[in-house]
Amino acid sequence: MKVLVIGGGGREHALIWALRQSPQVTEIVAAPGNGGIAAIARCIPVDTNSLPAMANLAAIEQPALTIVGPEVPLALGLVDELQRLNLRAFGPTQAAAQLESSKAFAKDFMLRHDIPTAAYAMCTTLDEVREELQRFTMPVVVKASGLAAGKGVVICNTRLDAERTAAEMFSGVLLGTEESIVILEEFLTGEEVSFFALCDGKRAVPIAAAQDHKRVGEGDTGPNTGGMGAYSTDGLVTPAMRQWITANIAQKTVDGMASEGNPFQGILFIGLMMTPRGPRVLEFNTRWGDPETEAIVLRLENDILDLFNAAIDGTAASLAIHLKPGASATVIAASGGYPGKYASGKVISGVDPAQPEQDGVLIFHAGTAIKDGQLVTAGGRVLAVSAAAPDLQEALNKIYERMKTISFEGMQYRRDIGHRALIT
Ligand code: AMP
Ligand code: GLY
Repeated sequence: MKVLVIGGGGREHALIWALRQSPQVTEIVAAPGNGGIAAIARCIPVDTNSLPAMANLAAIEQPALTIVGPEVPLALGLVDELQRLNLRAFGPTQAAAQLESSKAFAKDFMLRHDIPTAAYAMCTTLDEVREELQRFTMPVVVKASGLAAGKGVVICNTRLDAERTAAEMFSGVLLGTEESIVILEEFLTGEEVSFFALCDGKRAVPIAAAQDHKRVGEGDTGPNTGGMGAYSTDGLVTPAMRQWITANIAQKTVDGMASEGNPFQGILFIGLMMTPRGPRVLEFNTRWGDPETEAIVLRLENDILDLFNAAIDGTAASLAIHLKPGASATVIAASGGYPGKYASGKVISGVDPAQPEQDGVLIFHAGTAIKDGQLVTAGGRVLAVSAAAPDLQEALNKIYERMKTISFEGMQYRRDIGHRALIT
């Protein structure tokens, strides 16, 4: 069968790599894809901010299945549009994707359904922000409600700072677009965990837990990024905790969405803070994580197509997820200057897109392109160097050895991915 994958990052490369293992998949089209994906799929350029462009492409290609990778097409309603075109699609509808696209929706939803999250206040004016701030202790977290590509969350140490941040969100100075709802949130402490569940509208089935590294600098310092690396291990959450999160957060979310007439089908990615008082939801995402997916697919033993089909067909309850025991990890090689200004078009050496795997290390491309026959950088995050092994240290050793053989001008990466799990 022919599969269309929307997106062009490391996550999509990893999903396409996994789809390639499926004997049922005969053809893969990626839109827009990237320099690495081009070696294993036919890439077609598309503007992933344009609903008509993506829908037209699908209508022309007539894939047997479309997988929507990033959040923006989901928020635009691509899955609804594909359904209207009688095309089979994996991912939530626009209404269900509100769990990610509107933090205001997500917070009120959690309150309605008694799902543990940080205490909050929703504000639509600066006066409301000033008034609500009086009851928060510092630091306080200030969040824009809408999608903000990782820039919509600011931790503020003073009320003045929080007020200024909220003002900049309302005015558009901070995010480029005016935000109409700003959320003040209780500051939580603990380990952060990304928890992934496959949902079919009725049931949530846990896939795996992973840990992302959001800050650009070693020791979790510097500005937030899209993610500089991730790992997944058996020990990240205990079986009991996994069960608790599944029952009290993932399944409750699926039940709540169904009861409100917006059944959730797709990947529910729960961003959790493991606080001393138990897990609290920091945010919901309604898609696979990037770079968590680059690590998780290396542990997944199932045919990934069976996961997509079970979610669409409502048969997730009878699906058994099999993960390789042990660990996997991914380390991002990023452009110099990222997450601020960076240059693109730098020649990458040591990477052959036609040979993504070498000595058990896989290179997924996040932001690359082929220019004049050469592989060049084409984004902030460039490569996701990934491996699985019986233990995390072994996976990381393999990755960091491979990393030494890769270079491009300005390349930066964190040498401490997995550090929290390696403390003994
Ligand atoms: P979000 O986009 O909501 O996941 O927020 C991005 C990052 O901000 C999270 O990964 C956390 O590191 C941090 N964060 C968000 N909400 C809180 C909170 N209530 N308390 C502490 N840190 C938070
Ligand atoms: N790794 C965080 C995200 O995909 O949003």
